[in-house]
Amino acid sequence: MKYYIKTFGCQMNEHDSQILAGILDNYTDASGAPSSEKNEMTTDIKQADIIVVNTCCIRESAETKILGYLGSLKKYKTANPHVILVVCGCMAQESGAKERIKKRAPHIDIIFGTFNLPKLQDYIRTFRQNQQFIYDIEETPGLEHAVLPVHQDIQSFKGKVNIIYGCNNFCAYCIVPYVRGRERSRSMQHILNEVRAIAAAGGKEVMLLGQNVNSYGKDFPDGGSHHFATLLEEVSKVEGIERIRYMSAHPKDFHVELIDTIAALPKVCKHFHLPLQSGCNQTLKDMNRGYTTEQFWHILEAIRKKIPECAITTDMIVGFPSELERDFQETLEFVDKCAFDDAYTFLYSPRTGTVAAKREHQIPDEVKNQRLQQLLAIQNKHSLANNQKLIGSVQMVLVEGRSKTEASVWTGRTDTNKIVNVPAIEGDRDYTGLFVPTKIVGAKTWYLKGEFIR
Ligand code: 5AD
Ligand code: SF4
Repeated sequence: MKYYIKTFGCQMNEHDSQILAGILDNYTDASGAPSSEKNEMTTDIKQADIIVVNTCCIRESAETKILGYLGSLKKYKTANPHVILVVCGCMAQESGAKERIKKRAPHIDIIFGTFNLPKLQDYIRTFRQNQQFIYDIEETPGLEHAVLPVHQDIQSFKGKVNIIYGCNNFCAYCIVPYVRGRERSRSMQHILNEVRAIAAAGGKEVMLLGQNVNSYGKDFPDGGSHHFATLLEEVSKVEGIERIRYMSAHPKDFHVELIDTIAALPKVCKHFHLPLQSGCNQTLKDMNRGYTTEQFWHILEAIRKKIPECAITTDMIVGFPSELERDFQETLEFVDKCAFDDAYTFLYSPRTGTVAAKREHQIPDEVKNQRLQQLLAIQNKHSLANNQKLIGSVQMVLVEGRSKTEASVWTGRTDTNKIVNVPAIEGDRDYTGLFVPTKIVGAKTWYLKGEFIR
């Protein structure tokens, strides 16, 4: 059978989709023995016998888009009644999701949640036998100990590995703890085995994934907070892996000792993504973020002092309930002071079940939009200025391939995760997956322009 996977949302979901593909690639019969029937991934949805939609629910806009997409799948089932339509991921795990999905897309055959990845084969087998709708969001205990197959990406020089599932933080706006459960760390051995497998397949860069990677290992018997640093040291020892990234780190758990560890490990990228969310202490408190702007500033200073060549990026939410104009002005001033390399900026979106959604003083959409524009103006100024500082320098770029929008341009990333675009010249070899020293010759807000030192 051919399968097609559509992924919405974050890197965690992208990686879950690689696991879902791995499960489908290794299709077994009911006894668990390899099946004579082989599955194959297709990028042409019209060819697919199984369509899997891995969903996101972080903001309402994601859900609206996904519900529209699910509605549009009907035509494939009409054209080909044996097609199996599967919905999984964060939105599937939400309470009330079954009803909302079925209302908009009654043709969906299987809905399962974020805890049930390993059961995908069973669902498909059962559905093929009795053609009855399946819904399962029960928590599968011990998922963090499961060794699941991972479908190698086309970009096999980059791999992702889950290190910790779930989140314990309950930021007032965030639905993640409700749909991904509490923190569960994977064993270091499992993680290292996966990193070695990525390296053996030609991987050069690995991304360690978790909602809050700094919590890695806090649920181990000794409960220490040093496990993430130890993990970085261990992953650094894997031959073939040249770059180590991680996503996401929480400012409240980002200790100065970790900066020392990162500074001492050449393979760990000098890019720090530290979601600030708000630059006003009252709003941070309302958000239940667990740090003040002063504490955040202290981390930023420590990082920049120790690693001056680093890049620091952030996430920001505007229009959180009760965010006064004066609070927002504080945010603007603080963001200006922080001079981030980039910021992912979001309009606050109320999520049913979270504390903030129940609060009075929700901010009108037009105010949120105005605030977003003001924030972007300040951030864009810093993004450009930080990029301009690199003009004239030579950066090691890991080339990802030709640009999707311009075939005559190579595109890749620096250690600090900045995009570098380089015009291709006739007779160029295929640089995809190679590290190429690159002279930076220009800077835009979102990317750098470079020339390979060929
Ligand atoms: N509304 C807007 N943005 C949100 N984020 C998380 N929840 C919400 C929400 N309800 C943002 C945060 C987080 C990023 C992944 O998404 O900034 O860091
Ligand atoms: Fe959501 Fe906060 Fe957990 Fe991040 S740390 S996933 S924003 S609850």
